[in-house]
Amino acid sequence: MLEDLKGFIQPGSREEELALKIDFGRMPQHVAVIMDGNGRWAKQRGLPRMEGHRAGSKSVRELVETALRLGIPYLSLYAFSKENWKRPRREVTTLWRLLEDYLRKEDKQLLENNIRLKVIGQYQDLPGKVKKELDRVMEQTKDFERLTILLALNYGGRAEIVDAVKRLVSDKDFDVSALDEQEFARHLYTAQAPDPDLLIRTSGELRISNFLLWQVAYTEIWVTNKYWPDFRKGDLLEAVVEYQKRERRFGDILPRR
Ligand code: IPE
Ligand code: IPE
Ligand code: MG
Repeated sequence: MLEDLKGFIQPGSREEELALKIDFGRMPQHVAVIMDGNGRWAKQRGLPRMEGHRAGSKSVRELVETALRLGIPYLSLYAFSKENWKRPRREVTTLWRLLEDYLRKEDKQLLENNIRLKVIGQYQDLPGKVKKELDRVMEQTKDFERLTILLALNYGGRAEIVDAVKRLVSDKDFDVSALDEQEFARHLYTAQAPDPDLLIRTSGELRISNFLLWQVAYTEIWVTNKYWPDFRKGDLLEAVVEYQKRERRFGDILPRR
């Protein structure tokens, strides 16, 4: 087992059993997570939805720490979709306030561990106070390279593709005959990251909900029935173990690594 996991994982636990199965030479380089089920988690307990969102922040902290110790270099987290503005105003306002609080309190985890924070999504339309905190944290962490978090805020996969087209054609040197998939991908919000190897969705829903549409073309998908606030280190370990059992062919007839 990796040195970084010792002390983090209890000897004799389910987590240890899973960690021992992981091949550290074949880690997913980018894990994308649709953090879903906060509302249902709260409802199950007779609590307001907001309490589910609050509890979900603990899962984010644990996911980040686990990814770091596993040596996963890219993590993308779907936190607020472009479609989530349809929700009642009170819920939307609370979500942004929780994010603001999170950035104020949890920036230490990023700063102390060389974690870079980037936002993907239509940044210009985020509330001013949230942008202020994000600008600060992004500036403080911009040179870190151990782990990059792509935080999806006001994010839509289709919007991202349309934005990429707009950016491409507004370049006066744009030459349509030279356009290929690589060049197109360089205009997406995720230009600096590899495509996700593994996509995790909590709460049992079997859909993509407009997340990273272009990038998930060949991503392995793993869904757990657990609600996001119940997601813990063992769940990421389980997802990685399952990922490593998959045979990725990318259209070929033989498995590719
Ligand atoms: C995910 O949990 C968080 C966001 C989408 C912001 P939900 O709020 O979607 O929870 P459910 O799906 O209603 O249970
Ligand atoms: C996806 O969850 C968006 C986030 C997790 C931020 P939703 O709860 O918005 O997705 P649907 O509506 O169930 O597809
Ligand atoms: Mg949901």
